[in-house]
Amino acid sequence: MNRTTSGGELLLSIARRRGGSLRVQLERELRLAIQQGRLKANALVPSTRALASDLGLSRGVVVEAYEQLLAEGYLRAARGSGTRVAFRRADVEPLEASKSAETPPKYDFRPGLPDLELFPRRTWLMAMRRALAGAPDSAFDYPDPRGAPPAREALAAYLNRVRATRAHADNVVFFNGSAQGIGLVCRLLRERGARKLAVEDPGHADQCTDIQAAGLATPRIPVDERGLTVDRLERADADAVLVTPAHQFPTGAALAPERRAALLEWAERRRAIIIEDDYDAEYRYDREPVGALQGLTPERVVYVGSASKTLSPALRMGWVVAPRALVSGLADAKLHADRGSPAPEQVALGEFIESGEFDRHIRRTRSIYRKRRDALSAALKKHLPRLRVHGVAAGLHVYIELPAGANERAIVDAAQQRSIRVYGAASYRARPSAGPPALVVGYGALREERIDEAVRQLARVLRGNRSGD
Ligand SMILES: Cc1ncc(COP(=O)(O)O)c(C=O)c1O
Repeated sequence: MNRTTSGGELLLSIARRRGGSLRVQLERELRLAIQQGRLKANALVPSTRALASDLGLSRGVVVEAYEQLLAEGYLRAARGSGTRVAFRRADVEPLEASKSAETPPKYDFRPGLPDLELFPRRTWLMAMRRALAGAPDSAFDYPDPRGAPPAREALAAYLNRVRATRAHADNVVFFNGSAQGIGLVCRLLRERGARKLAVEDPGHADQCTDIQAAGLATPRIPVDERGLTVDRLERADADAVLVTPAHQFPTGAALAPERRAALLEWAERRRAIIIEDDYDAEYRYDREPVGALQGLTPERVVYVGSASKTLSPALRMGWVVAPRALVSGLADAKLHADRGSPAPEQVALGEFIESGEFDRHIRRTRSIYRKRRDALSAALKKHLPRLRVHGVAAGLHVYIELPAGANERAIVDAAQQRSIRVYGAASYRARPSAGPPALVVGYGALREERIDEAVRQLARVLRGNRSGD
């Protein structure tokens, strides 16, 4: 039977057959009435006797419900004047009216994104299943803040084999994406007295923000076609540097051999730290990849890697191979940041690597991306033959120099008008206006058969902006 209060001031509905005790139901109804503002702050609630009789409940049930809500702070007992509503309803508005879904552009040259369709759903699921089925009960406890031991072992062996690192399971730490790893490394360096962490210019703008949030100054070191200008680093008086030596982001340059040597020599001499961001190392198309710097000087280099390009950025899975002197500080930082990243996914990654599925997945996706890279190179030669293109040998994006005097911003906007999204180099620079106009063109998520048309349309935009080709 359903009973409802009869007084107009308060509508509560209690159903005897609804399940849950009558007291719990009454508490829930009263809480809701207060949260929704039907019972205003300071309003007098009915006496226990009146409400009990109204709802056909025993008075004890109402007394207990009132006591619970008094304890929770929804009600207050006003001496001599009954029980009143204590809680002032906070208006909970959505932070921002949710944006109506934007129509996606016809062609999106977003850099940094792999093809999300290529996520290996079936084999990842199998690895996940093996990871859960084979895990001892202890695997479901709070994890080691560095990450699940079998995953760290598998990853260390993989990186040593494929990237010529000198990693050991003990100095591998998993993070929620390499972004968190870099942020926490910076905090640790700051705690240990570092003041300045040099960054590449152009470089990854969000990383720069994270480094500054850790309390470090970020002197910018220019990049040219041979990568970071290490001689300029000498003058920056930095305690550490963040570099992308294998494939500079976003210009695509590989750090020239003499500069690699000079950079390592700089770190040794100054006892400085090199943070090596190896974000897209698996995708090399024309030659064997150059090994990681970390393999040469493991005590001076913090190696950073990520599953964001090879698998998916949604996994938020990144890792650091840290010098011995930083490992325990980094594990502590991770512990205090969030008690560790989810272990089952890490164990699945370990399974994925050890079963050979990761290598198979990389071979398959590398061949797809190489074809896209070839299609992009051919289309650029055909439709924009005079533009200089950099960084084609690796990764999922290229860097296109626009003719001197071209208005990068106007080109990006004009492309947008034609439903083509391209990304200007300005947003990666310390001073957006400094540096020649250029576009950072990602092709990872563009199907091969669409690339020629996408570039043809982009070429029309460029001609429309009298930038020539
Ligand atoms: C230069 C660079 N480093 C690292 C990453 C990966 O970051 P995360 O592992 O946090 O997804 C990206 C992703 O786009 C990147 O562009």
